[in-house]
Amino acid sequence: MRYDLTIRNGRVTTSTTTVQTDIGIIDGKIAAIGPDLAPGVQDIDASGRWVMPGGIDSHVHIEQASSTGVMCADDFYSGSVSAAFGGTTTVIPFAAQHRGHRVPDVIADYSRRAREKAVVDYGFHLILSEVTPEMLAQDLPRAIADGITSFKVYMTYDALKIEDYHLLEVMEAAGREGAMLMIHAENHDVIRWVARRLLDKGLTAPKFHGVAHDPLAETEASARAISLSRLLDVPVLLVHISGPEAIHLIRGAQRLGSKVHAESCPQYLFLTAEDMDRDGLDGAMFCCSPPARDADAQEAVWQGFLDGTLQLYSSDHAPFRFDTSGKLPKGDATTFKEMANGVPGLELRLPLLFSEGVLTGRITPEQFVQLTATNHARMYGLEHCKGDIAVGLDADIVLWDPSVKRTIRWDDLHDNVGYTPYEGREITGWPETVLSRGRVVVDRGELLAERGQGQYVARRCPTPILDGAMRPNPSAASRWLDLRGKAWKSYGEPCQ
Ligand code: URP
Ligand code: ZN
Ligand code: ZN
Repeated sequence: MRYDLTIRNGRVTTSTTTVQTDIGIIDGKIAAIGPDLAPGVQDIDASGRWVMPGGIDSHVHIEQASSTGVMCADDFYSGSVSAAFGGTTTVIPFAAQHRGHRVPDVIADYSRRAREKAVVDYGFHLILSEVTPEMLAQDLPRAIADGITSFKVYMTYDALKIEDYHLLEVMEAAGREGAMLMIHAENHDVIRWVARRLLDKGLTAPKFHGVAHDPLAETEASARAISLSRLLDVPVLLVHISGPEAIHLIRGAQRLGSKVHAESCPQYLFLTAEDMDRDGLDGAMFCCSPPARDADAQEAVWQGFLDGTLQLYSSDHAPFRFDTSGKLPKGDATTFKEMANGVPGLELRLPLLFSEGVLTGRITPEQFVQLTATNHARMYGLEHCKGDIAVGLDADIVLWDPSVKRTIRWDDLHDNVGYTPYEGREITGWPETVLSRGRVVVDRGELLAERGQGQYVARRCPTPILDGAMRPNPSAASRWLDLRGKAWKSYGEPCQ
């Protein structure tokens, strides 16, 4: 067998094991894994390197207008280049339907822009801000058939929030069609009420963002989302979970057999609310929703990852520049309520966890692979082509140098944000060589990919990691409305 490319002598970690071996690649796919493979047209010597699947970042905002109309700093080129340099070979950004916009137009618009610019593979989730009968009956099934098999809805933000009735409608549609429903769970009125009173007292600094977004806003909305999903017995995914109480609730629901999945992000492991408490408006660089909490919350997130309560580690890359185009629409007069929400993290998501999780021994290399790639593939219908190192899958592969030490500097990154919240941190390990479908896209700090070379990946129906098999008592609603049966027909099957 003649391989196009053979990766030799690497320490290869899959989702289940680590072995010293070779990988043979043909036509962009992994064709063989084993010792002493035949030479390829090209050979890469991976001695001393850790070879892992390319990351899948399933929560990124790229070239997207925020709920207040502020445009992200990264377009599909800078965002995907930044992903590649950080070892992420697949991104799933959002195609955001703002009110008054038709879903098919939104998808066409995002697809065109990504097709022209992306350097790594991509799919889309659909953000739904307005739920109509036409959308439920036609647009969502059409989107799913086209490979957009997940939707995100918001329980907060004036311009995005949907009411619980519509949340149930979207849950039912997701269950019926076999799609994954992502939920931003924060109680809108708690945030609004606290923020109003803080502003009335003249408390406008960035740190008050953390006060307005009290952990209880997340706890309450998570409990509500969990209850609604249990009513219909439909799998859901609570995104960017930040606090111990929400994790506790999610764990409890899972023990009851509910298919409530959850994601957390680097900012909840590596930042705290104190980061927002800086001179002037500098704290705005650390403001995201929900905000980072404290050391106990960080510990709860680590535990959630370790015991499986949290299955996905994503960046929630929400890139806004620290100027009037992004974080500070009113310049020095910007209050915490007017800042664009979100922090960048696409390029550093994997290096931070590799350094602080794997190399410290907090998580195993296999857990790293699951949390950064394999679980994303399962949960978002990419299992047939991505998320692991196995024969038949796309050769999306990263060679890590586990010994290199770096001080994080935004100047060395490739996004268009102008700062990183992790500036000055010392980390160990870096993705040195990155392959996307068998082609080297980054090598030792050099970009070798072309604009537009990333491919759209039509996703299949997800395979929820929690199967809910032990659920003893489906709700009367789910039995009488026959929702459970409908959901199970299509999950894990091709949607096309
Ligand atoms: O602060 C954040 N997370 N901004 C991005 C939008 C979202 O809710 O994910
Ligand atoms: Zn969100
Ligand atoms: Zn987000």
